[in-house]
Formats: sequence, structure tokens, C-alpha cells
Amino acid sequence: MADKPTVPEGGFWPAPDIPQPNIYPMEWRVETDKLAAIYEKSKRTVWNPADLPWDELRPDGFTPEQRLGLMYWFAVLANFDASGPAVFARATIHAFEQHEEDPVRKCFFSITRDEMNHEECCQRSIARIWPGGPLDWTPGTDLEKAAHNNIGWLYHNGGRYWQGYNTAVRKYSLAVLFTSFMMGEMAASTLFRGMASGTRHPLFGEMFKRIGRDESRHLQICMTILENEWPGLTEDVKGQITKQLRAGFVFLSMILWEPPEGFWDLPPYFLHNHRVLMDHARDAGLGVLSFDEQAENWRVAIARVRAIVERWGIEFPAIPELDISGVDVTGIEAEDIIPVF
Ligand SMILES: [Fe+2]
Ligand SMILES: [Fe+2]
Repeated sequence: MADKPTVPEGGFWPAPDIPQPNIYPMEWRVETDKLAAIYEKSKRTVWNPADLPWDELRPDGFTPEQRLGLMYWFAVLANFDASGPAVFARATIHAFEQHEEDPVRKCFFSITRDEMNHEECCQRSIARIWPGGPLDWTPGTDLEKAAHNNIGWLYHNGGRYWQGYNTAVRKYSLAVLFTSFMMGEMAASTLFRGMASGTRHPLFGEMFKRIGRDESRHLQICMTILENEWPGLTEDVKGQITKQLRAGFVFLSMILWEPPEGFWDLPPYFLHNHRVLMDHARDAGLGVLSFDEQAENWRVAIARVRAIVERWGIEFPAIPELDISGVDVTGIEAEDIIPVF
């Protein structure tokens, strides 16, 4: 047997530089202990959507219109929550390529993990209430045709969002990306808190409570990252953030309230049919707030975002739809839309 070598050879050749952006070289820098602590907490609070009491969601407990309304609402939610895993997975890869500190990457991974649970809730709810939903079924009645067609248009817009997001994630700085995410998480935590208290159904109550808790943690992650990113922002970046906040309102209003003008490419009958279907979901006891309650909830959530960003000298956009004054922002394009739940 040959002798085992014990002494390394010298005359080293330096390894070539790795072209960046790249996930290599590997390293585990920790700069923000608070983020590392949030990640630890997220691992301990994992839950399993399969363990929710699905037997209690009995399709025969609803009228066909109510079932359709429920499926429609989850199809709308899925536009936001079912895109979550892919959106945050991409952001996680981006964070690795940019060599963000380890807790940032891990927190992004934990959001991806949570979003997969939220996506699964959409999937399971729809499967129980409306097999084949959102789109793989043949509508018969006029109401069914309206729901099927609206969902098709909704996902057409989701597709535009995804194309824009793929460009945005490389184009914008972390401060811009995270402010947009923060707006989404603020919206999500507000929505699920409202619905958890409004629903008449124990399964949905349990689901919304858990999702709401996750969304609050996501908000905390965004806020912690932004506290590092916001100091020293240039005026140019501040302007981008102002535009992003308006884009967030335009995009997220579809699930929080009703879609405003700008970005949304929808046929003229969409909103009418959307209202009819949402009313059936409301009637089924899902916990969808009234038009006015939704507006008030959204106004309160936006006021919170506004108070946070103005502390850092970032101007807030005007949101005339909710009587909120601010800077005029027009011309929101698909690639301006970043936020997700
Ligand atoms: Fe979230
Ligand atoms: Fe979510």
C-alpha cells in the first residue's frame, strides 16, 4: 500500500475569480441577529395545511351559487398567494446571487415555505368545493360562465405580473423590492385578520388565523431588512419607492377591495360579475368584508405603510380612490408591479 501523503504540496495557483452575480463562493455572514432569530422562530411555528379540519368543509352545506362564489374567491386569492412560492423562490435565488447576509437568504426561504402552505390552502379549498377549479371544468349556467371567464382574465393579468416581476427583480435595489413586499405583507396580514374575525366557518377561521400569523412574520422580516436598507437612500430610489407604493395599491386592491384603473387589463363586464360572485362568497359565510369595510381596512393598512415610509423621507403617492392625498403617480406598467402576499 502506498504511503498516505501527510504534507501538502506548495506552489499554489490562485483559483480564478468567480464571475458575479453568482451563488458561489459559499459563505455564511451574519449581520442582523434579529433576522436570524426570526428565522429560528419561523422553523418552530411551521404548520401543516393537511391537518386543518377539511371534513368540516362539506360541499352540500352550500348552494351551488355559494360554492361557485367560494371557489371564485380562492381563485382570486390564488392570483396572489399561489404565486408566492415562485416569487419568493426567485427572490431567494437573487439574494444568494447578491451575497446577501445568511439570515436574509434564510428568511426568504422561510417565506417561500410559508407561501407554499398558503398556496396549498387555495388548492385544497378549491378541490373540495369545486373539483376541476379554477379553470379545468366546463361552465353550464350564465353565472358559471361569468366565473370561468373572469378567472381566465384574472390569470392573464397574473401572467403579465410574473413577466414584469422577472425583470423587476434584477432591475431594482433591495430597498425598492422590499418596500413593495412590505406593502404586500401589510395588505395580507390586514386581509386575513379581518376575514378570520368575519368568517362563520370553523375551517376558514383556523386557516385565516394561521395564514395571518405567517403574514405578520413576513411583515416583520421586511421591516427588519428595510431598517438596514432605508438609511442613505438617494432621491432617485426614493422616487422609485413612491411609484412602487402606488403600484402596490393598484395590484393588491383586486383581493383587498376592487381593482382600480391602471395596470389591470379586464373586459368591461369583469367588475360587475366580480361583485356578483363576491356576494355569493360573502353569503356563504367566508368572511369577505363589505365594500365599505374593505375600503376602511385598506385605508388603515395604507396609513400604516405611509407612516413608516414617511419617517425615512419617502413621499407617499396619492390614492384618490381612498381619499388619500400625496404625489401624483401615473403610468403603472406590468414591470412596476412587485408586491405579493
Ligand atoms: Fe406573505
Ligand atoms: Fe401568503
